[in-house]
Amino acid sequence: MNKLNFFEEISEGTTNVFVYKIKSDSKGPSSKQGVPFYNPTMQLNRDISILVCQQLLDSSKRKMILLDGLAASGIRGVRLANELVGDFEVVINDWDEKSYNLIEKNIEKHSFENIKACNKNLNVLLSEGKFDYIDVDPFGSPVGFIDSAFRSIKNGGIIACSATDTAALCGVYPKVCIRRYGAVPFHSIVMKEIGLRILLGFICRVAGVYDKGIEPSLCYSTDHYFRIYVKVNSSISKTNQCMNNFKIIHSGENIGIEKIKNNIGPMWLGKVIDKKTIGEILNIVSSKKLGCKNQIYRLLDILEEEADAPVFFYTTESIASFLKKSSPRMDLLFEKLKKQGYNVYRTHFSPTGFKTDASINIIEKMFK
Ligand SMILES: C[S@@+](CC[C@H](N)C(=O)[O-])C[C@H]1O[C@@H](n2cnc3c(N)ncnc32)[C@H](O)[C@@H]1O
Repeated sequence: MNKLNFFEEISEGTTNVFVYKIKSDSKGPSSKQGVPFYNPTMQLNRDISILVCQQLLDSSKRKMILLDGLAASGIRGVRLANELVGDFEVVINDWDEKSYNLIEKNIEKHSFENIKACNKNLNVLLSEGKFDYIDVDPFGSPVGFIDSAFRSIKNGGIIACSATDTAALCGVYPKVCIRRYGAVPFHSIVMKEIGLRILLGFICRVAGVYDKGIEPSLCYSTDHYFRIYVKVNSSISKTNQCMNNFKIIHSGENIGIEKIKNNIGPMWLGKVIDKKTIGEILNIVSSKKLGCKNQIYRLLDILEEEADAPVFFYTTESIASFLKKSSPRMDLLFEKLKKQGYNVYRTHFSPTGFKTDASINIIEKMFK
């Protein structure tokens, strides 16, 4: 049953770490495999966390305490310690004993001084101390850790979280979404954007409980997960401003070309990307050795464009099939809309998606 053979040394960024070797017949990431799992497909996720933390360190004058709260092998935390430049400490935590031993082994390997391993329930650890950066990277949903994260985060700090329960957030399992996130999802072409916004809405709502406001700096959907980075402010006025972005979309309103039949949300309807932060992160990319650099450039390039765009998007196929026409080329459509004075943006949610301030009537005219 146990898939453990022995350790192998792997490399990400400029960091080598030991991970458990998993037999090739094992079926992907699962806590049930009995050993801390190293998931190479999450390298992009970890690479971006290096960039976000470097940007945080660069923008601050004080020493920062960074927490890799659900660490498994500890690769993210060890990479933070090895690849960041600045004044900081790293705490790497996992409640699983085998993980903890592996984290210790990886720390010893590098003989770092500014790094510490913990073997606690993350919620307990968060109730014991304050952090400037809290990374929550669970199997599935992060909801069980968000409350403690907001009690623990320092003013101006960043909470990062991944959510792999995209089927719930995208409306494949609406009851699960309602139960976990207190929000009604919408299984449709725009389901990924709605799912990401439901997750952010949940985070904004929990922040509000503690009179804290969030500024989403970099939130995206990729592969099989959502990833969120929010800057946290302890200010009542900022919290109130934030809550203005926490809204329900009411039945009868349009999302893309669809008129919705039931209320959807509540969700975050404010910006999900901060253009300035993306610019600063883009400046850091060239100074780091990262395995997913090309993918990062592509993603950040679209996110930078999308930062100013309105919420929700159309896809050329969905409009074409609605109008029973063939899909126009994206570049021609963009050119036509721009020529008429409209703004039009690519979206990372879909390769055939676009966001625009042109009304649906104008778009339809162009298709016809
Ligand atoms: C998806 S893995 C983390 C992957 C890791 N961040 C990486 O980049 O490779 C989730 C980890 O969370 C740990 N975990 C789950 N619940 C926890 C809790 N309440 N407190 C601490 N660790 C927990 C599990 O043991 C598992 O190792």
